Amino acid sequence: MYNQRLRMVAKPPLGIVILAAGRGTRMRSERAKVLHAIAGKPFIVSVLETASALVPDRLAVVVGHDATEVERVCGAFFTRRPMAGTVSYPRQVEQRGTGDAVRAAAAAFEGFDGDVLILYGDVPGLAAPTLRALVEQHRANAATLSLLTTEIDEPTGYGRILRRPDGTLRGIVEQRDLDPADQAVREINPGIYCVRSRALWPALTRLRADNAQGEYYLTDIVAMAVESGEVVETRAVPDPGEVAGINSREDMANLEERARKALVEKWMRAGVTFRDRATVYIEEDVTIGADTEIGPNVQLLGRTTIGRGCELDGTALLRDATLGDGVHLRLGVVMTDCQVGDGSIIGPFAHIRPGTVLAEEVHIGNFVETKKAKVGRGTKANHLTYLGDCEIGTATNVGAGTITCNYDGFQKHRTTIEAGAFVGSDSQLVAPVTIGRDAYVASGTTVTKDVPRASLALSRVKQVNVEGWADRFREAKAKRKKSDDH
Ligand code: UD1
Ligand code: MG
Repeated sequence: MYNQRLRMVAKPPLGIVILAAGRGTRMRSERAKVLHAIAGKPFIVSVLETASALVPDRLAVVVGHDATEVERVCGAFFTRRPMAGTVSYPRQVEQRGTGDAVRAAAAAFEGFDGDVLILYGDVPGLAAPTLRALVEQHRANAATLSLLTTEIDEPTGYGRILRRPDGTLRGIVEQRDLDPADQAVREINPGIYCVRSRALWPALTRLRADNAQGEYYLTDIVAMAVESGEVVETRAVPDPGEVAGINSREDMANLEERARKALVEKWMRAGVTFRDRATVYIEEDVTIGADTEIGPNVQLLGRTTIGRGCELDGTALLRDATLGDGVHLRLGVVMTDCQVGDGSIIGPFAHIRPGTVLAEEVHIGNFVETKKAKVGRGTKANHLTYLGDCEIGTATNVGAGTITCNYDGFQKHRTTIEAGAFVGSDSQLVAPVTIGRDAYVASGTTVTKDVPRASLALSRVKQVNVEGWADRFREAKAKRKKSDDH
C-alpha cells in the first residue's frame, strides 16, 4: 500500500495535445474533418473520451479550421464530463503540418514538466487501454519518445516505420517522400506518441519543411530522437482497425461499418435478436432491453431507449424515442423525441413526432400522425388520423380520418378528448375544443364547440333520399345511348 502510494506520487504529470486544426482536404467537405461523425459521434468527441480517460493534468486541443465549432463541440463534451485538468484551445492559424500544429500548443504547456501524449483528431477508434499501455511502457523504459505502430495490408497513405536490418528504429517517412524500395513496408505510423516535454518543445523548433508537401512534419522528431541517441520505444497495436486514420469518405464508411458491427454485437450479447443485422444501424447512446427482436432496415439514433420484449417488424427510424416493455412497432414507423408506454402497438406506417407521450396499451395504426399528443391508456387511433397538440384520456376511440385542426395560420390550439369518449370516423375537431367524458361525436361531424359530458355532437346536413331516382336515371341514360347509336 505504502509503495503503491509512493509510486503514484512519483508519477510525472501527463499532458495531452490533440491535433484538430486541419480541414481534411481529402474529405472534400466545408466542415473541419474532426467534426465528421461515426455512428453519430464526431471524431473529436471519440478522441476526447479516450483522452479524458487518461486523466491528464493538461489537455490542449489545437484548433484552426472551424475553430469556433470545434471548440463548441469540445466545450459541450466537457460540460457533460467535467475534467480535473486544465483544458485549452490553442490556435494554429495556418495549417503548416502536424509538427507546426503541436508547436502551437507550446504556450499552453509553459511550466509543465512531464510526458506529453500527442493524438491526431482523425483517429477516432483509439481506445484508452492502448494509450495507457503506451504511457506505461514509455515510463517503465525511461524513454524520451514512444510511439504506437501497427501492421496493415494496405499501407498507402500512411507514414511508414523504417527500421535498420537489426530491427531498431530509424524513423518515419511519409507516403509522398517514400523511396520506391520502401513502398512495401507494412508497418505504419498511426500518429500516437508519448514524448518527454523537455525533449519535445526543443525538437519542434528544429523541424524543417523540406519535404514533398512543404510541411512541418511531426514525424521527423522520431528520427531526431534516434539520431541523438535517446531512448525511443515502439509499441505494436495488434488490430490496425483501432488506429485507422480517417482521411476520406471511404475511410469513414469502413470505420462506420466496424462501429455498427461492434454495436450490434454488443446488443446481441445483451439478449437482443436481430433478424438481419447487416441492415440495422444503432448509435452509441441507444439502449435496448433483452428479448427484444429487431427486423431489417432499422435505425436507432440519438438517445433512443427500447424496453424489454419489444418487437420491431422493420423499416423504422427512431431518434430520441423511449419505448417501454413489450411495445410492437409494425412495419414502417418514424418516431422522434417521444415516449411510448408498455404494450403499445404502432404502425404500420405511422409518424410519431416530438412531444408525443403514449401511455400503456395504446394503439396507433396506419397513416396516423401524432405531435405533442398525450394519449391515455388503452386508447386507439387506428386509421388515417392527425392528432396534434392534444390530450386524450384513457380507453378512448378515435375513428378513422379524425383530424385535430390545431393551427389557424397564426397559432396552435389544443384539443382535449376526455376518457371514454368515442370520436366517429371522418370528424374534424376545430381547436381549441374539448370533447367531454364518455361523449360521442357522430361520424362526419365538424366539432367547433365543446361537447358536454356523455352527450352526442352531430353536425351533418340532413340526408334526403329520392326514391326510384337511380332506376330513372339509368333508363334515361340507356335511351339516350340507343338514339345516339342510330
Ligand atoms: C499523419 C502522419 C502519418 C500517419 C497518419 C496516421 C504526419 C506528417 N503524418 O498523416 O505519418 O501515418 O497521420 O493517420 O504527421 N493537423 C493539424 N494541423 C495541420 C495538419 C494536420 O491540426 O497543419 C491535424 C489534422 O486535423 C488531423 C491530424 O493533424 O487531425 C493529422 O493530419 P492529417 O493531414 O490527416 O495527416 P496524415 O496525412 O493522415
Ligand atoms: Mg490523417
